[in-house]
Amino acid sequence: MKLFIETLGCAMNSRDSEHMIAELTEKEGYETTNDFREADLILINTCSVREKPVSKLFSELGVFNKKKKPDAKIGVCGCTASHLGEEIIKRAPYVNFVLGARNVSKISEVLHKDRAVEIDINYDESEFAFNDFRTSSYKAFINISIGCDKSCTYCIVPKTRGDEISIPDTLIINEAKKAVDAGAKEIFLLGQNVNNYGRRFSGEHEKVNFSELLRRLSKIEGLERIRFTSPHPFHMDDEFIEEFAKNPKICKSMHMPLQSGSSKVLKEMKRGYTKEWFLNRVEKLRKECPEVSISTDIIVAFPGESDEDFLDSLDVMRQVRFNQIFSFKYSARPETEAEHFTNTVDEEVASLRLTTLQNLHTEILDEINATSLGKTYKVYFEDLIQDYYVSGRSDDNIVIKVKGSDELLGQFRDVKITSIGRTILTGEVVA
Ligand code: SAH
Ligand code: SF4
Ligand code: F3S
Repeated sequence: MKLFIETLGCAMNSRDSEHMIAELTEKEGYETTNDFREADLILINTCSVREKPVSKLFSELGVFNKKKKPDAKIGVCGCTASHLGEEIIKRAPYVNFVLGARNVSKISEVLHKDRAVEIDINYDESEFAFNDFRTSSYKAFINISIGCDKSCTYCIVPKTRGDEISIPDTLIINEAKKAVDAGAKEIFLLGQNVNNYGRRFSGEHEKVNFSELLRRLSKIEGLERIRFTSPHPFHMDDEFIEEFAKNPKICKSMHMPLQSGSSKVLKEMKRGYTKEWFLNRVEKLRKECPEVSISTDIIVAFPGESDEDFLDSLDVMRQVRFNQIFSFKYSARPETEAEHFTNTVDEEVASLRLTTLQNLHTEILDEINATSLGKTYKVYFEDLIQDYYVSGRSDDNIVIKVKGSDELLGQFRDVKITSIGRTILTGEVVA
């Protein structure tokens, strides 16, 4: 029996896909395939965060249905499953089941039911442990919390993933140890607000905050690198920044999702911080950890964003000089507060702002990258890429490739940069 799985969206979805693969291979005897035409089960693990992928879902389902093996089953999982539920089967009656983002542990159950729809966002795994499967043996994604308690007015995630619940640190540490025993030297902690960790557990549990969790994890022998996403600027207190700076196992790359540089827009978004707070946290971070690289998420053309507000986003870009940005045009989402805001920005203006922002970032990035030429970075190699290249990341999250074979995978090497590209730097191993 063969399983084809397409994963959209964020790292949490990737981890959910790994969980589903584990359940299906161990309990149901499936093996994975990259070709949906030979699959007995086709799963799409969907994302709802912006409208485009959602509208593409039904055309994609149509193609799967037309070209699949005649008796192959189709399941829609993830965030769009959570928010559209039953409607998916109404619009695409050949879909066999719908399984929400909070319910992935029920994959075996729904597989044997006819047209099951499992989308309870209050559903809580009594145990957060699944059968395990990892796409990479060098790096392990580990959930530290599920759901989100914030109410950013543009965002659908709290509706698709439910309340924020932290996973007990003992389970996280065990999972990390297991991954390290299996050969991973890096772990990647996942949650919508990782630095709000420990606020609520599903049962009685010792109060452990994110800084303490990081301290405990860093004691694991054989574990060399810890990364995490996403921290929230609102919760970036001094304790967290100081732990980040002084703990040698924590990679010096911080994601600081700005969303907007305008305090007025941030208020409308209910982000809980101002432009000044954000810049103050960047200043503190750079003071404690001068080598840090900073990435961000920015939304342009949120309802009511004036030219002046947009200039504030550009101003923060110029002041912070982010190493990486993920930028999006605002997309109205169902069941969010901002869906009802009427002061929308023209599509043309939105497109122009996005291009302006991205062009500015390209300029900044070219300047940053130019300073990397000739520098040496410690790289952890994770992927084999075409033409006999192996790629990995530096501590501060730069993607670097060198000529080499799979012998380098899972190894740390010092690499001197010999040429610069926008998304990847090339170098040679020097030690
Ligand atoms: N928990 C994370 C974000 C998860 S969603 C945080 O708070 O940073 C990932 C990114 O998608 C967000 O940071 C935001 O930039 C973007 N996003 C979310 N909703 C959006 C919407 N309605 N329109 C456009 N971009 C959106
Ligand atoms: Fe969405 Fe805000 Fe929660 Fe991030 S913090 S997932 S943007 S509601
Ligand atoms: Fe992730 Fe998309 Fe859901 S970003 S949390 S898969 S809506």
